[in-house]
Amino acid sequence: MQLDIAILPGDYIGPEVMDAALPVLEAVLKRGGHSLNYSVHPVGGAGIDASGKALPDATLEACRAADAILFGSVGGPKWEHLPPAEQPERAALLPLRKHFKLFANIRPGYLPKALADASPIRTERIANGIDMVCIRELTGGLYFGEKRTTELPSGDIEAVDTMIYRKSEIERITDVAIATARARGKRLLSVDKANVLECSVLWRKTVAARVAATAPDIALSHMYVDAAAMQLVRAPASFDVLLTENMFGDILSDEMAVVCGSLGMLSSASLGDVKNSHALPFGLYEPAGGSAPDIAGKGIANPCAQILSAALMLRHSFGLNTEADVLENAVKKAVADGFRTVDIAFGGKSVGTQEMANAVLARTSL
Ligand code: NAD
Ligand code: IPM
Ligand code: MN
Repeated sequence: MQLDIAILPGDYIGPEVMDAALPVLEAVLKRGGHSLNYSVHPVGGAGIDASGKALPDATLEACRAADAILFGSVGGPKWEHLPPAEQPERAALLPLRKHFKLFANIRPGYLPKALADASPIRTERIANGIDMVCIRELTGGLYFGEKRTTELPSGDIEAVDTMIYRKSEIERITDVAIATARARGKRLLSVDKANVLECSVLWRKTVAARVAATAPDIALSHMYVDAAAMQLVRAPASFDVLLTENMFGDILSDEMAVVCGSLGMLSSASLGDVKNSHALPFGLYEPAGGSAPDIAGKGIANPCAQILSAALMLRHSFGLNTEADVLENAVKKAVADGFRTVDIAFGGKSVGTQEMANAVLARTSL
């Protein structure tokens, strides 16, 4: 199979982890008799620097022509002086998600037993590791509702972000969560703030009705977001599939990531209804963490989230489950064999980005 993908490394550690991950991906594909046909395009701050736009026309065109997008991360201090709506995150990443209608964001929270010491949670509470997944709605809510900042006659300044959800948007993300739960432990936890927000009242009602009507085999429960944030540190191993709206999912998934060791290990897939040339979902695959300007340029960023995002791409957009398994298992083996970038080393011996990627690569052929 030939895989046509657009590669958008982005800013700060984005290009570093992308450069480290690509040879690993290519090696696994080559061994399976597949070929990677990719082109690399500027996005985010790199797009602004290259052509004055965070999402250059040529970059969007290349994404349209591809079967999937492998994304690094965008944003950082260099572009923070720009008007907010022109900054990399709001002018590149969010428009990409919206343009391709990537409403389903899948973030696997996985802590292998071997990494239990890297979690801030007491090891006896995670003795068997953690294996959960966050399904985050990605094209609605506060992120995309009307926004404005106005100066009032009094001289005060008012900023407004609008949270909007439609029943149909909640139903389609619930369907993704149901399918995910069915392939796992058949347990689904929906998180909302139905004691305060209208959107959450609709969310809870719609999720409950959808599960009752189409998935009586799934055990559904509901939790308020504040309680969920607390439970995630109190009993992380009790979670299985967590479903939530855009903003709550953004926050809870970073919490999930660190409970599972580090943001540098958290991959993500953003999917919609659009099919690629293989009749599989077109998707954008990216580490859930950001451009980490605090460690950029030092060669110490963890490349695992980027490698694991490539694995999700193979699975969802190309149906290459064997190759995806090989990549995921290679990361697990490298970690079990003691290879740690500084974010998961906690004062112990650590390796750099390239050495970590080499350790993963070496374990793809075992
Ligand atoms: P961040 O996720 O970049 O960093 C938070 C912390 O996690 C930092 O200490 C960082 O060093 C660490 N970290 C993140 N990824 C790591 C990795 N691979 N290896 C080791 N450590 C890692 O969040 P931030 O500092 O709040 O944001 C920095 C910039 O990134 C901002 O401009 C933000 O908007 C942007 N951002 C972009 C994306 C994206 O492109 N998808 C996601 C989140 C944040
Ligand atoms: C993420 C990021 C983005 C988000 C930002 C960079 C717009 O934090 O992918 O989690 O909030 O969705
Ligand atoms: Mn985030």
